[in-house]
Amino acid sequence: MIMGFPCSLGRDHGRWPPAVSGRPAVSGRGGLMIRLPRPGTAPGPGTARSGGADSPAARYTARPPRGPISVDDLTHLFDLSGQVALVTGSSSGLGQAAAEGLALAGAHVVVHGRHAERTRAVAEGIAAAGGSASAVVGDASDPAWVRAAVDGVVAERGRLDVVMANAGVAGGPSYRTEEGRIAAVSDAEWQSTLANNLTSTFNTLREASRVMGDGGRIIVTSSTAGLRSDPFVGYGYTATKAAQVNLVRQLALELAPRGIRVNALAPGPIKGTRIGGDAVLTPELEQLWVDTIPLGRMGLADEIRGPVLFLASAASSFVTGAVLLVDGGALDLSHAAY
Ligand SMILES: NC(=O)c1ccc[n+]([C@@H]2O[C@H](COP(=O)([O-])OP(=O)(O)OC[C@H]3O[C@@H](n4cnc5c(N)ncnc54)[C@H](OP(=O)(O)O)[C@@H]3O)[C@@H](O)[C@H]2O)c1
Repeated sequence: MIMGFPCSLGRDHGRWPPAVSGRPAVSGRGGLMIRLPRPGTAPGPGTARSGGADSPAARYTARPPRGPISVDDLTHLFDLSGQVALVTGSSSGLGQAAAEGLALAGAHVVVHGRHAERTRAVAEGIAAAGGSASAVVGDASDPAWVRAAVDGVVAERGRLDVVMANAGVAGGPSYRTEEGRIAAVSDAEWQSTLANNLTSTFNTLREASRVMGDGGRIIVTSSTAGLRSDPFVGYGYTATKAAQVNLVRQLALELAPRGIRVNALAPGPIKGTRIGGDAVLTPELEQLWVDTIPLGRMGLADEIRGPVLFLASAASSFVTGAVLLVDGGALDLSHAAY
């Protein structure tokens, strides 16, 4: 069993990004700059942020704002200082962008994937930009590995506040190709898609709910392909993405009394990931996609950061069991142009 490095990198809960305006916080990926507390209101560098009872993070986790709120409250709304986040499948694509976003908001982020070099590189990239990250490497479809990994995070970091179950694979091709027709789908391919997309999500949610404190937040990356039929994806993909949605709704009910919120993201077609990826994306296929998207373009991986931060933070304090579309309007058009 590989438990990963774990390699802890970067400043340990120091303020990130530093109070230098105009500096892209994560290089090479379109650098989203999230404004954290204004100079003078932030704890100084090296100040522990794990949270006195009146730290912004603790205030919003334990006690959502009621009544009029100040500009200062809004500044802290997305602040994850002192919190620990695990993002499965963050060695590339949407997970990587999400991990970087969570780190920008102040969380220590545990980056995860099966590919050791890629996983380590993402954690190192976050650390190089001044964030705090560690890495774990292993197969999320293996229940024993996930249990050990989650226990390891809690043992090392002392807490787990945000879990994003994002690991997934494309599965096989759509029925528009011979090998994607239902009669041609092999048992091996079906089982593999189930394991990587659905069992991995179940394992992650089960262990997260076991160790999370009250007020935790769980996010699952489903897809618009889980909300309707989709001529561009295979049977395993659409079935597992749909199942994730009901897993989220069911778990949201169970965990609501503990104040743990559970929500899904449903991205549409996103570029710059390996699933939606540049390797498989011909100009013709991209045009087919674009014709189905009212905003007239595919999404970019970095555009997942805002929705993730919303669901991971106090900004969504009354949101649970929801499915947040990140699809440029594609679900409503529903392949009408196809
Ligand atoms: N791109 C899109 O258009 C799109 C749209 C809707 C939803 N999504 C969803 O977004 C999520 C991320 O996909 P992506 O597009 O960003 O693709 P990606 O770049 O291929 O990322 C997939 C990630 O999942 C990891 N992974 C897959 N199976 C795993 C397993 N069994 N154990 C551990 N890690 C595993 C991969 O890790 P390694 O490579 O290190 O193994 C990688 O980090 C998926 O759930 C996908 O269904 C994507």
